[in-house]
Amino acid sequence: MREILVTGGAGYIGSHVVRALEARGFAPVIYDNLSTGFRDFVRGFELVQGSIGDYETLCALFREREIACVMNFASFIAVGESVELPLRYYENNVSRTVTLLRAMLDSGVKRFIFSSSAAVYGEPEIVPIPEDARLCPTSPYGRTKHFVEEILRDLDVSSEFRSVSLRYFNAAGAHPSGEIGESHVPETHLIPLVMRAAMDESYRIKVFGTDYDTRDGTCVRDYIHVNDLADAHVLALEKLLEEDRTLAYNLGNGSGFTVREVIESVRRVTGRAIGQIDAPRRPGDPASLIASSDRAVKELGWKPRYAELDSIVETAWRWESRRLRKGY
Ligand SMILES: NC(=O)c1ccc[n+]([C@@H]2O[C@H](COP(=O)([O-])OP(=O)(O)OC[C@H]3O[C@@H](n4cnc5c(N)ncnc54)[C@H](O)[C@@H]3O)[C@@H](O)[C@H]2O)c1
Repeated sequence: MREILVTGGAGYIGSHVVRALEARGFAPVIYDNLSTGFRDFVRGFELVQGSIGDYETLCALFREREIACVMNFASFIAVGESVELPLRYYENNVSRTVTLLRAMLDSGVKRFIFSSSAAVYGEPEIVPIPEDARLCPTSPYGRTKHFVEEILRDLDVSSEFRSVSLRYFNAAGAHPSGEIGESHVPETHLIPLVMRAAMDESYRIKVFGTDYDTRDGTCVRDYIHVNDLADAHVLALEKLLEEDRTLAYNLGNGSGFTVREVIESVRRVTGRAIGQIDAPRRPGDPASLIASSDRAVKELGWKPRYAELDSIVETAWRWESRRLRKGY
C-alpha cells in the first residue's frame, strides 16, 4: 500500500481526507503537532506528533518510510487573526512549509498536495472565479497561501518536484457518521456559528453587511462539503502520481448561498429559532465568492455529492449534536 504523509491530518479537513485515502487503498500516516487538531479525530490511524518546522524529525520519517506523496493541511487558518498577528501566519504557514519542502527535497520525496484557499484571489473581478483569475490576496492569511503556491511553481522549474494546489472555497459539513467534523478555536466560520445560535438561545449570530448588491443584501459564499473535498484530494493524488505536472484547482460547489440563506437552512434543518443581529460590513469581505470548479470536474473527474445546502447543514448538525456530548 502506498504511504501518504498527511501533515495537519488531525484537523477538520485532514481527518476527512485520511478516511477517504484509506477507503481508496492508500496508507495514510498522520503528522500533526495537535496545535489546533484532535487526537480523537484520527484514533485508529497512525499519528506521529511533530511540527512541519522540525527538519530532523521529518527527514528521519522520510528515511524510515516509503512516502509516495505529502498532503499538507498544516497551517493556521483565521483570516482576521492573520491581520492582527501576521508573523505568526508567515512563520507557520510559509517558513515551516519551506522546512517541510526542504526535508522532502533532501529526502527525495517529490510529490506534494497543498491546501490552498479561495483567499488567494482577494476581491474577484469575475464570478464564478476561474483558476487563471488574478491572484491578489487581501489578507496575510491569503498571502501565505499565494506565497507557497509561488514557491511550488519555482520548485517545479528547478527540480522534479511536482505539486497540486487545491484552492478550497468554504469547507463545510461533517462526516456523515457524525464522528468527526468542524471544530476551530475560536470558531470563525459561519455554519458552526449559526449552529451555536441554534443550540443557545442567548447567542445571536452577527450578519456582517446587509447592503451588498446580492439577492438579500448579505454576502454570498460557496460552501463545499468536506467529504467532497476529500474525494477531490484522492483524485488529485492519483493524477499527481501518474502525471508529471504541477497544477492548481478550485474546489467549490459552483453555486453560492447568502448568509441569510445559510441561517434559514439551519433553521429548517434543526427546527430551532436562530437569533441574529445585523452588523456593519467587515473590511475586505467581497460581496460574492463563487468558484468555477470546471477544471477539477473535467480533469480530475470530480463530482461533488452534496450540492444542496440543506444536506451539508444536516451533516454539520449531526456532528454538532454529538460533539457537545464529547466536549470538543
Ligand atoms: N476550513 C476551511 O474552510 C478552509 C478553506 C480554505 C483552505 N483551508 C486550508 O485547509 C487546511 C486545513 O484547514 P482546517 O479547517 O482543517 O484547519 P484545522 O485547524 O482544523 O487543521 C489544521 C491542522 O494542522 C495542524 N498544524 C498546524 N500547524 C502545524 C505545524 N506547524 N505542524 C504540524 N501540524 C500543524 C493542526 O494541529 C491541525 O490539526 C489549512 O491549510 C487551511 O488553510 C481551509
